[in-house]
Amino acid sequence: MTMQRSITAFSFALLASLASGIFLVVQAQQNPGFINIDCGAPNQYIEELVNIKYETDEGFIDSGENMQVSLEVISTYYQQYSKNLRSFPNGTRNCYTLRPDRGKNITYLIRAVFWYGNYDGKNQPPSFDLYIDVNYWTTVWFSTYYCEEIMYVSQADDIQVCLVNTGNGVPFISALELRPLDGDSYRLGFGFLKLHWRYDIGLSSNSSIRYPDDVYDRIWQGENYNIWNKLNATSAIDLFVNNNAYKVPGKVLWTAKRSMNASSPMKLQFPSITTNKWIVYFHFMEIERLTSGQQREFTISMNDNQFTETVILEYLRPIVIVSTPVSGWNSTFSIESTNKSGYPPILNAVEFYTIGDLPNVPTAQDDVEAINDIKAKYHIKRESWQGDPCVPSNYTWDGLTCRYENPPRIIWMKLSSSNLTGEIVSSLSHLSTMEYLDLSNNQLTGAIPETLAGLQNLRYLNLSGNNLIGSVPEALKKRALDSTLIISLTGNANLCQADPCPQKKKPKKILVLVVTPVSGFLIVLFGALAIVWLIKQKRIAGEMSPGNAWKDQLKQDDASECTLFSFSSLLLATNNFNAANKLGQGGFGPVYKGMLNDGKEIAVKRLSSSSGQGMEEFKNEIVLISKLQHRNLVRLMGFCIEGEEKILVYEYLSNKSLDSFLFDSKRKAKLNWDTRFRIIQGIASGLLYLHRDSYLRVIHRDLKASNILLDEKMNPKISDFGLARIFEGTQALLNTHKVVGTLGYMSPEYAMGGIFSEKSDVYSFGVLLLEIVTGKKNTSLYYRGQHFNLLSYAWQLWSEDRGLDLRDEDIVNTSMPLEAMRCIQVGLLCVQDHTTDRPNMLSIVLMLSGESDLPRPRPPTFTFQSGIPGHDNEVRGESIFSMNTITNSMVEGR
Ligand SMILES: *[C@@H]1O[C@H](CO)[C@@H](O)[C@H](O)[C@H]1NC(C)=O
Ligand SMILES: *[C@@H]1O[C@H](CO)[C@@H](O)[C@H](O)[C@H]1NC(C)=O
Ligand SMILES: *[C@@H]1O[C@H](CO)[C@@H](O)[C@H](O)[C@H]1NC(C)=O
Ligand SMILES: *[C@@H]1O[C@H](CO)[C@@H](O)[C@H](O)[C@H]1NC(C)=O
Ligand SMILES: *[C@@H]1O[C@H](CO)[C@@H](O)[C@H](O)[C@H]1NC(C)=O
Ligand SMILES: *[C@@H]1O[C@H](CO)[C@@H](O)[C@H](O)[C@H]1NC(C)=O
Ligand SMILES: *[C@@H]1O[C@H](CO)[C@@H](O)[C@H](O)[C@H]1NC(C)=O
Ligand SMILES: *[C@@H]1O[C@H](CO)[C@@H](O)[C@H](O)[C@H]1NC(C)=O
Ligand SMILES: *[C@@H]1O[C@H](CO)[C@@H](O)[C@H](O)[C@H]1NC(C)=O
Repeated sequence: MTMQRSITAFSFALLASLASGIFLVVQAQQNPGFINIDCGAPNQYIEELVNIKYETDEGFIDSGENMQVSLEVISTYYQQYSKNLRSFPNGTRNCYTLRPDRGKNITYLIRAVFWYGNYDGKNQPPSFDLYIDVNYWTTVWFSTYYCEEIMYVSQADDIQVCLVNTGNGVPFISALELRPLDGDSYRLGFGFLKLHWRYDIGLSSNSSIRYPDDVYDRIWQGENYNIWNKLNATSAIDLFVNNNAYKVPGKVLWTAKRSMNASSPMKLQFPSITTNKWIVYFHFMEIERLTSGQQREFTISMNDNQFTETVILEYLRPIVIVSTPVSGWNSTFSIESTNKSGYPPILNAVEFYTIGDLPNVPTAQDDVEAINDIKAKYHIKRESWQGDPCVPSNYTWDGLTCRYENPPRIIWMKLSSSNLTGEIVSSLSHLSTMEYLDLSNNQLTGAIPETLAGLQNLRYLNLSGNNLIGSVPEALKKRALDSTLIISLTGNANLCQADPCPQKKKPKKILVLVVTPVSGFLIVLFGALAIVWLIKQKRIAGEMSPGNAWKDQLKQDDASECTLFSFSSLLLATNNFNAANKLGQGGFGPVYKGMLNDGKEIAVKRLSSSSGQGMEEFKNEIVLISKLQHRNLVRLMGFCIEGEEKILVYEYLSNKSLDSFLFDSKRKAKLNWDTRFRIIQGIASGLLYLHRDSYLRVIHRDLKASNILLDEKMNPKISDFGLARIFEGTQALLNTHKVVGTLGYMSPEYAMGGIFSEKSDVYSFGVLLLEIVTGKKNTSLYYRGQHFNLLSYAWQLWSEDRGLDLRDEDIVNTSMPLEAMRCIQVGLLCVQDHTTDRPNMLSIVLMLSGESDLPRPRPPTFTFQSGIPGHDNEVRGESIFSMNTITNSMVEGR
């Protein structure tokens, strides 16, 4: 039965193969582990010359275009695979990804073939670099047909061959081949071997031997060194004896050359075309049947250094001798018979390699696998997303940031607005060193995987603007509560973000902001970014049928978003915003003290709808504050929008604001010099964090005494950075016509031109500093006018060398003159007219602590004589929020 079936099957196979040439395919697939790519070919085919099936490059590369060599040269007798090619007009680095069956830690022969063939009609062969994985392989510059071949031990499952555009023309490639090698042959333990010549000595020089004679498909070029004599083999050699580790084909070993006689050596000088070290592989096999008991014996030297013991040949037993690495131009090898041997030395075959270095370490394998999976699942096609994600560092994938330890790791990933669809893939959770993950504004669906909480280093997770459903996994909420992670989930209409997640729809939904509980030790965490707001769900996905009922629900909900504290609990905490609880009136509206059920105190800022701030500013402030944490910044604990009500919940600071001390003649005395100096340093440090060290560089824009709050130990904390604008990286100066700030603290270029930058904050800081030292309030922008102008007063005393007289009389006795003088000088440096003259916050922090020298401030060379019409009555230190219509030219033309 079995027999019969197999016969039938065989007959069928035979018939089929005869009919369609499948027989060849079957045979061609008998070279397991080979990868044969005819780059740019339209179809796969069998190269009959070698009986190898060549594939198209589909699946090996994402980029480039198929081309063909010029018709004028296409009929040149070269192998078929050289006639098509793939060229890469776009992108700096284009990579083929080979995934050999045998996996990693195997020696592979990798061969790249190039034939320009004037394919682009420009008659201008390009030059470009070739990389093997993350390391430089060679520079391709030949105009003729040519091959590059290496012996490479792979460190990863994938091997990448990259073409790097060096600005000397469009890179291209004709064919790419990979063959696995057995055992330890051609394995150095370091670097890789780059082939220069591989000769079958004694074979006529117009022929070569390769697959299938050579199971590794090495190409042995015939080389008939005429300086040597031909050696006659005694008998035909069994061509299939491959009993040597290197599997050199019998055909190759069958021919050999020898020196004239036993006393003359075989000597050859080979031209060095590189400064790299050479390694020469000598292949020997005795093919002459010598008189019984006789053997050929010889030694081998490279550059006159004998590196072997005596080599003794036995009949038909192949021997491979690998030279030690030698460097230098014009190297020479010499094979010399020993005195004992009566026979001249022979050589059957020889290979010349140089050693390529592998200095670059690839990105950690786990990260590479994860990112490649992400790339595949989301079909990400970006020019730079080829080859290793991090290495070399100047080819790092767009959107990624890596840390270059050993091995390099991916730590940032920004794929916002990248058209990602489908679920959040699990491989994201495998990027274990990830610190920052931004997937906002895509079309991601499905639930948030809990595994994301397992990313121990993750500090920022932005999933906003997607279509995620379900609820926020407990583990993530916990991370948020533990202050180890910022999560942004806004704009996922179907995501339940309430805590706990309601089981049924409710008439009013609560937006929950989960925030760090105030805990002392957190304060010491440098830059611990730890606030989360879990914006409440509009509905619970999957539990609601999309009927009219829920549409109404959605509409209603749009006006209401709350946090950890419900609106009613805030009403309760503040005794219905009772005037008795009012702490003060800030730029956004009144602030109330609140007491929660558990006795914890909070500060509740109730935005007055008349204050002019819309939803936009409100959210701006939330977004910023929630991302920023520093011991000198007031912590936002939550927020709530309920109808017209917009509410921010802050940590409560028992000593209220700095101005309530500084400008109060009775309380001022509590601020001794040490306290003031500490406050100044604290503000500087908070501002430095905003400007430089926070994720999002922030300009405060409304720094003033009433925005500095004091905790029970009189530590200063900056509040109200909702006015700040986000700016990133190099964009240090933004221009806006919307002036938001307070007269008296506003720098001239900001007040008059609406131009703000870090340096406008520095100006405000300078004013604030001088106020703290003098105990006097600056009330005017102008140098002349009815209001007291602290700055002109300060400049005047300074120019009269009476700087110390600026000190508040309450501190004259307690202050250290040097320290006070340093502060005054820093203050004046900050309020200089020209932004470029003002120091940045880092310099200021260093100057204040005495770690940096102070330049001399330059007093103003002009005065503001023309005030801003209609603004006189606002010069009271109140925040102003207005559209400034004054143009830049007024500032420039002053
Ligand atoms: C190269 O980029 C251009 C412009 O983006 C595009 O039109 C072209 O299709 C790209 N070519 C290849 C081979 O990717
Ligand atoms: C790689 O293979 C070699 C032998 O071929 C072996 O000695 C070595 O331990 C292997 N290395 C790894 C990391 O597996
Ligand atoms: C190689 O050269 C020999 C003579 O040197 C000649 O007889 C033979 O035909 C040539 N073979 C090829 C393939 O050109
Ligand atoms: C090798 O064979 C050729 C002819 O095949 C002959 O002329 C020559 O003398 C032989 N050489 C030796 C060393 O036997
Ligand atoms: C060996 O050959 C060299 C020339 O290559 C010659 O000078 C020398 O005399 C020969 N020696 C003998 C022993 O034949
Ligand atoms: C190498 O050898 C060639 C010819 O023998 C000679 O012209 C050249 O100067 C040598 N180069 C060096 C660096 O020795
Ligand atoms: C071979 O013999 C010569 C002279 O007889 C001697 O100078 C040389 O050192 C010997 N070589 C070896 C390798 O023994
Ligand atoms: C990348 O760095 C390498 C080595 O530092 C340099 O040779 C190459 O020119 C750089 N490439 C680019 C595009 O900057
Ligand atoms: C996303 O897709 C839209 C439309 O399909 C396209 O216009 C846009 O360029 C794509 N954006 C990216 C970053 O691929």
